[in-house]
Amino acid sequence: MKLFLDSADPKEIASLAATGLVDGVTTNPSLAAKTGKPLFDSLQAICDVVKGSVSAEVTAVEAEAMIAEGRKLAKIADNITVKVPLTWDGLKACQTLSHDGLKVNVTLCFSPTQALLAAKSGATFISPFIGRLDDAGHDGMALIKEIRFIYDTYGFATEILAASIRHATHVRDAALAGANVATMPAAVFRQLLYHPLTDKGLAAFLEDWKKTGQTIL
Ligand code: E4P
Repeated sequence: MKLFLDSADPKEIASLAATGLVDGVTTNPSLAAKTGKPLFDSLQAICDVVKGSVSAEVTAVEAEAMIAEGRKLAKIADNITVKVPLTWDGLKACQTLSHDGLKVNVTLCFSPTQALLAAKSGATFISPFIGRLDDAGHDGMALIKEIRFIYDTYGFATEILAASIRHATHVRDAALAGANVATMPAAVFRQLLYHPLTDKGLAAFLEDWKKTGQTIL
């Protein structure tokens, strides 16, 4: 399973990319606005440190304009994935951009039928929003399972990119449900490692070792 960072902040991304475990990045207009920096500068800086897929979202709402924006964004670097919303225009743009050989991430997916349309449009990734579904009182993880079943049954190669992740348990459950990718905020990425028994166990090992007076090097 691939682990992506859900961030548009080049500094934050660079610090976690240093772990060697960041497979890609997803950005969106809200995350880009939060940085207060010019979008193209941030995307260039992100692509300089992360060699896997970096999703850059279009902001036009009509297909032709989305296609033009997508082509411009794709020129930033070879690893840019163009992100389009799950609308009829977005799906049309997805078909054209995918046909051009660009990678496309279809975002704002909240239902299995939307995911089916995105796969039929040639999407590289489909982004179901788990957290926003949970927030609205639905079962976000059930959507991942349903999409997995549909894609496997009909042989779609579109990768399921679990998005809108709120905590490490979402990452675990998305992995168990067969998502290909999970994208998460930096804080959740850090949570993946943390376990109090690891810290406690290591402290005890080091304490016992110290008592021996020995060194390895
Ligand atoms: C990523 O591609 C999505 O834009 C992001 O995960 C949405 O997360 P949010 O629901 O926390 O805004």
